[in-house]
Amino acid sequence: MTVTVSATLAVNEALNEKRRQGVRVLPLGFGEAGLPVHPVMRDRLSAGNGANAYGPVAGSAALREAAAGYWGRRGLPTEPDMVIAGPGSKPLLYSLLLEIGGDTAIAAPSWVSYAAQSRLVGQRPIMVPTATGQGGVPQPDLLHAAVTDAREQGRTVNAVVVTVPDNPTGTVADVETVRRLAEVARELDLLIISDEIYRDLVHVDAQGTERTVVHSPAEYAPERTVISTGLSKNLALGGWRIGVLRLPDSEIGHRLRGGLLGVASEIWSSPAAPVQEAASYAFTEPTELVDHVDRSRRLHGIVARAVADVFTRAGATVANPCAA
Ligand SMILES: Cc1ncc(COP(=O)(O)O)c(C=O)c1O
Repeated sequence: MTVTVSATLAVNEALNEKRRQGVRVLPLGFGEAGLPVHPVMRDRLSAGNGANAYGPVAGSAALREAAAGYWGRRGLPTEPDMVIAGPGSKPLLYSLLLEIGGDTAIAAPSWVSYAAQSRLVGQRPIMVPTATGQGGVPQPDLLHAAVTDAREQGRTVNAVVVTVPDNPTGTVADVETVRRLAEVARELDLLIISDEIYRDLVHVDAQGTERTVVHSPAEYAPERTVISTGLSKNLALGGWRIGVLRLPDSEIGHRLRGGLLGVASEIWSSPAAPVQEAASYAFTEPTELVDHVDRSRRLHGIVARAVADVFTRAGATVANPCAA
């Protein structure tokens, strides 16, 4: 199969070429903020640079414990054993699709890589539209119809991918949509893959108030929801390549864990050790990093609202961006 370079990475390279030519560009293609690395993270990475052993396939105990604490503080108690770390959430998502098998339902529009990865593992993605303002979550009734229809045609459909908060729309599906999605997934026995990499980048409005509450499908279908996240967006560390999965503490989750570790062990062996040391610190959410993320989401909010205004003035219909 011929796989072309991911549209988001391709646009990044095209923009870099324009910059080299001295052209001023406003990058709107890739989820990369261009913000500097927080000094404390630089120090932690340097301090870890003597760590040269491969380490456990699932990631270090310190990192898995810290990530479990991160989710615990968001109302999702987590066993460190049900956390798997990898070199970015993107390869973790790919391994999941590979491991789950069958076809996958994906929101339209959504981040370009879900459908591309699904094709890469030999699936035929089932694209299901989202409602305006409910980005990242396929409309539950349409999901029900699309999966039922595909199954009637003899296809196997095993999972649905959701993004909360959403990229590319910058919206956050409300609690009713997430709850209904969870119900449909349970009814149809679908695994939910919830990409929550933008969770901490909920915008703060001009008055400094945060109005949007993020609900994870793991609150409503805990037995069948896998969450992915990482440090690429909230701490702008995409180039460090570190991500984590939270598997459900259920029969499904334990089965997946074994399969995923097998895939991980044959592809990346273990995440980069010095990066894991720095990430372990970040996931404990020390005050200086929480302040850094706070300032960053304030900035994201200002920029996203300004860009949405430009499009609205040009006559486009744009749902209010409130995160990511
Ligand atoms: C929705 C979404 N999920 C995942 C990723 C990839 O994140 P990572 O750097 O953890 O592989 C991106 C980055 O562009 C993204 O926009």
